[in-house]
Amino acid sequence: MTTTEPQVDFDKLMSFVFRAVDEVGATLNTALVVMGDKLGLYRALAGAGPLTPDELATRTNTAERYVREWLSAQAAGGFVAYDPDSGRYSLPPEQAVALTDETSPAYLPGFFQIALGSVIDSPRITEVAKTGAGIGWHDHVSDVHEGCERFFRPGYNAHLIGEWLPALDGVVTKLENGAKVADVGCGHGASTVLMAKEYPKSKFGGFDYHDGSIKTARERAAEAGVDDRASFEVAPASSFPGNGYDLVTMFDCLHDMGDPAGAARHVRQALAGDGTWMIVEPAAGDRLEDNLNPVGRAYYSFSTLLCTPCSLSQEVGLALGAQAGEARVRKIVTDAGFSTFRRVAETPFNIVYEARP
Ligand SMILES: C[S@@+](CC[C@H](N)C(=O)[O-])C[C@H]1O[C@@H](n2cnc3c(N)ncnc32)[C@H](O)[C@@H]1O
Repeated sequence: MTTTEPQVDFDKLMSFVFRAVDEVGATLNTALVVMGDKLGLYRALAGAGPLTPDELATRTNTAERYVREWLSAQAAGGFVAYDPDSGRYSLPPEQAVALTDETSPAYLPGFFQIALGSVIDSPRITEVAKTGAGIGWHDHVSDVHEGCERFFRPGYNAHLIGEWLPALDGVVTKLENGAKVADVGCGHGASTVLMAKEYPKSKFGGFDYHDGSIKTARERAAEAGVDDRASFEVAPASSFPGNGYDLVTMFDCLHDMGDPAGAARHVRQALAGDGTWMIVEPAAGDRLEDNLNPVGRAYYSFSTLLCTPCSLSQEVGLALGAQAGEARVRKIVTDAGFSTFRRVAETPFNIVYEARP
């Protein structure tokens, strides 16, 4: 039998190679953005007007030779603007918002920091991919934990109080009057602290299986002055303490759990009869082909390096994946005995679901 060699289109090959050049530059830029953030280079450039590398190095107490090379890479990627006549660099106002304004929903350094942490840990993921073993959330470098907090917080600041909680039936009134809330898989407590600031009459319990995250969450609550009403405890989602909760929240963590079905059953029995479970999950369609876009690409990549190994490291190891989609989340929720499940809000990055007993 004769086989025919597939014909390679040289133009298509070269166009793929040049796309790869762009991607390698972008991959390396992940480290350079984190470097610029940690060294204060973007913050020093923001609103400063055009600076020479020497001026930027002096303002940030860094070495001019590194700063000059970093600026060249930033200019080549369009992150900073370069004026060849003066030899000076400046940060365009839009980049200044995205790279330095922590209060903006467009703030990006956390996104790069969690990506860098994921890449740093990728050799270990490559090893466990041979056997199907897992790597837990607790087992990552701190850039993953801190980057996660800094990546998600701007979105929660922008949407949680003004849009997501009001989209839940009757929940805001309960929170205003004094509700009992569990924030499960709370990480560094960005969502818990935000809710505790807004609703001083309510009591918030933040739970996470990672002791390092719980320690940081306690510090965040104390810094924000809400530690009288927000307390944190190490506990897995399938057995966090307490019952009669008016609201249980899970922010970007259900799919990370080994046994999301067990967690759903536990939430069901921990809720008050008229309580609400709010589930915030990454935006995703039900079919792979719905998610073949830039957001889906980033989330499938995080899912390969963080979420799937985290779930596989735990009992059951269901490994839903960060792009599970509504149908799979609905099945887990309704199988656990919830009578209603509906999508109440969405952004380009998240979908918010409401489940009621
Ligand atoms: C992507 S992070 C999200 C953290 C936080 N909710 C936020 O939005 O910033 C996922 C979190 O789920 C936690 N987690 C994973 N499996 C868990 C489990 N079985 N029980 C409790 N927490 C879990 C991890 O420790 C981690 O803090």
